[in-house]
Amino acid sequence: MDILGRAAFVTGGASGIGRATVVALAERGASVVFIDRDEEGARQTIARAGQPDRVVFRACDVTDGKDLAAAVGSTSSRTSLVSATVICSLTIRGPGGGSSTST
Ligand SMILES: NC(=O)c1ccc[n+]([C@@H]2O[C@H](COP(=O)([O-])OP(=O)(O)OC[C@H]3O[C@@H](n4cnc5c(N)ncnc54)[C@H](O)[C@@H]3O)[C@@H](O)[C@H]2O)c1
Repeated sequence: MDILGRAAFVTGGASGIGRATVVALAERGASVVFIDRDEEGARQTIARAGQPDRVVFRACDVTDGKDLAAAVGSTSSRTSLVSATVICSLTIRGPGGGSSTST
């Protein structure tokens, strides 16, 4: 897929697969908005991507619906069309509906 000049939205971008995705997309010319609850990790991702004009971070806990909606909303206001969404944060909900584990 040619991602040059396109926009991508990545969750869990402060570490691991999400970080690698943000860096790879930025290196290929995409604009990337990524979210995570780890602000220090996010700073490292931005530094590694080396494209501060095209890589934007929004602090967000994906288990908080309002927080997530605000982050997605800010992405929409920044870019007219998101070509790719990459989910790299996963929350497992327990039988009672509460968040029991997230990685
Ligand atoms: N690494 C692997 O080999 C592998 C293999 C199969 C599946 N996975 C799955 O892929 C996903 C990413 O794996 P990884 O190795 O990159 O994990 P990771 O722990 O390195 O990265 C996960 C990121 O998600 C963020 N995150 C977690 N919960 C969050 C929340 N509630 N709100 C916002 N951000 C949150 C963390 O802060 C972290 O930056 C995980 O769900 C993992 O289970 C990983």
